[in-house]
Amino acid sequence: MKMSRTAVLVKPDGLQRGLIGEIVSRFERKGLKLIGMKMVSLSDDQLSDWYAEHKDKSFFGDLKSFMSSMPIVAMVWEGIDAVPVVRKLIGTTSGREAEAGSIRGDFGMSQQLNLIHASAKDEDARREIRIVFDDDELFDYHGAMECVIYAEYERK
Ligand code: CMP
Repeated sequence: MKMSRTAVLVKPDGLQRGLIGEIVSRFERKGLKLIGMKMVSLSDDQLSDWYAEHKDKSFFGDLKSFMSSMPIVAMVWEGIDAVPVVRKLIGTTSGREAEAGSIRGDFGMSQQLNLIHASAKDEDARREIRIVFDDDELFDYHGAMECVIYAEYERK
């Protein structure tokens, strides 16, 4: 089965709430592999690209100013079906509605300040990763635990 990658941003509220460690820990415990991570201030241009699908929404300006108000922590995680797996771990958009046990469901109360972003589709992941990461900021290394995280047939 094919490994895929997903982009995650811990938003300004997640940083302020001191949730970086908790979030990284949840992904690690799940069995995902961290292949890139950095703290960045996203520019208006980067945010316009990132949120292109929301450009006509009433909250677009608000969302961009919130996302540029402070640095964010960007990560790339890898695993089989990484995109849907991570979306399930973060929960649905609004913290008030997100499932208990998910990151937003456990830590959030807001729709906009929803702590974390994760790519919705593989093609979004490829685009989002390119917006924030250069090729030499992503690391292709052997995951020593993979033989106990995946069955042999899944690793082929
Ligand atoms: P996310 O799903 O990561 O990407 C789009 C973001 O827009 C979403 O998280 C929220 O942070 C924000 N958002 C979604 N809906 C609204 C809304 N109605 N008002 C303000 N912000 C929103």
